[in-house]
Amino acid sequence: MKYILDTANVEIIKYAKEYFPIEGITTNPTIISRENRNFLDLMGEIRAVIGEDIPIHIQVVSNNAQEIAEEGNAIVKKFGKNIYVKIPVTREGIKAIKILKSENIKVTATAIYTSQQALIAAKAGADYVAPYVNRIDNLSSNGCNVVGNIIRQLKAYDLKTKVIAASFKNVQQVDNVANMGVHAVTVSPEIFEKLHMHLFTDASVEQFIKDWKKVYGDKNIRD
Ligand code: E4P
Repeated sequence: MKYILDTANVEIIKYAKEYFPIEGITTNPTIISRENRNFLDLMGEIRAVIGEDIPIHIQVVSNNAQEIAEEGNAIVKKFGKNIYVKIPVTREGIKAIKILKSENIKVTATAIYTSQQALIAAKAGADYVAPYVNRIDNLSSNGCNVVGNIIRQLKAYDLKTKVIAASFKNVQQVDNVANMGVHAVTVSPEIFEKLHMHLFTDASVEQFIKDWKKVYGDKNIRD
């Protein structure tokens, strides 16, 4: 399972890249708008920080298939390899997925709330489908179950499309989809930070240090 960071904040990306196994970046227009910067400058900076080998999923803002395809082409031209054009699964979006796939451009179908949306996007050629786990939960449905259904359907119909589960509000949701064998999760910096945290881990480390110090004082292993 790939860990992807759902942010466009350059400082956070720098920090996360240093500490965690980040295998991709996703953005959407809301995430971009939080930075309130020139879009091209911002994405260029993110590309420079994260490097060419790590994929970036960049969302389009047009609603019409032809315009979405043109935006997708412009994004790929500007930021080079390892770009996935994120396209919401509207009717126009599905048409745009078909156009961009015929041009060999990588696509992530996004804003997915049902397994049928995912299946149609997959059949249209999407490389990734992105179900919105927490937003589905908030509709009194079950986001993790939807992810499970999508994984099963893609497997049943032998489709190569992968699932990048998105929109998490807690660690348990991430762990649930990890248990289902999801291919990737994209997680906000706030939730990402919590993935490894446990107060008992901190307490254990504190005790180890105390015990060491009782015998060796301030010496460490290098001394
Ligand atoms: C990522 O691809 C999605 O745009 C994002 O995870 C949505 O998350 P939200 O529901 O927290 O806005």
